[in-house]
Amino acid sequence: MASGNGSNFENIVKKLRNKVDIELFTENKNAYVIQRAEKLKVKTHIIDFKSFCRDEYDEKLYKFLKKQTPELVVLAGYMKILSPKIVDNFKIINIHPSLLPAFPGINSIKKAYNYGVKITGVTVHWVDRGVDTGKIIEQKSVTIEKDISLKNLEKKIHEIEHEIYPRILKKILGIT
Ligand code: GRF
Repeated sequence: MASGNGSNFENIVKKLRNKVDIELFTENKNAYVIQRAEKLKVKTHIIDFKSFCRDEYDEKLYKFLKKQTPELVVLAGYMKILSPKIVDNFKIINIHPSLLPAFPGINSIKKAYNYGVKITGVTVHWVDRGVDTGKIIEQKSVTIEKDISLKNLEKKIHEIEHEIYPRILKKILGIT
C-alpha cells in the first residue's frame, strides 16, 4: 500500500517479485507509484480516498482486503491511518524513516534534522491501532554528520530503507 512516490514499492517488487505475488493498492489516483506499477506490470487497485466519506472509504478498503486475503499487508509510504477493524484483521507491516518512538507521523526526516539530533534512522514495525506505535521489528541508525544537507540525509535514509525492508519482508515471508 503506497500513496506517493513509491521508491520502496519499486524496490520491493524488483527484489521479491520472483518469490511472491505483489499487487499495489493506493488511495491516491495521482500517485507516482501508479506509474511505477504500470512499468513493472504490477496490478494496481485504487479506491479514491477523496470520493468517499471516511467511514465509507474504510469499509471499502476493509472489503477489498478481505477479498484479497493478503498473507501480509506491506505499507510503503501509505499516508492514511488504517481503521481499527483493518488493523485488527490483517497482518500489517510498516517502514518509518526515524528511530521510533522518536519523530512519529509525517515529515520525520526533516523533524529529526531540524531538531538537531545526532543519530536518526529507520524503523520497521508491526502496525497497531496507533500512529507508528506498533511493536518494533528492526531498526537501523544513521549518524547525522555535521554539515550534511537535509537532501543528502533523506538520500541516506532511503538507501537504508531499500536495503532493510526487502530483507525483513523475505524473512517474515520465509523466502530466501
Ligand atoms: C519512506 O520514507 C517510508 O519510510 C515512509 O514513507 C516514505 C515513502 O517513500 N513511510 P517512497 O514513496 O517509498 O519513496
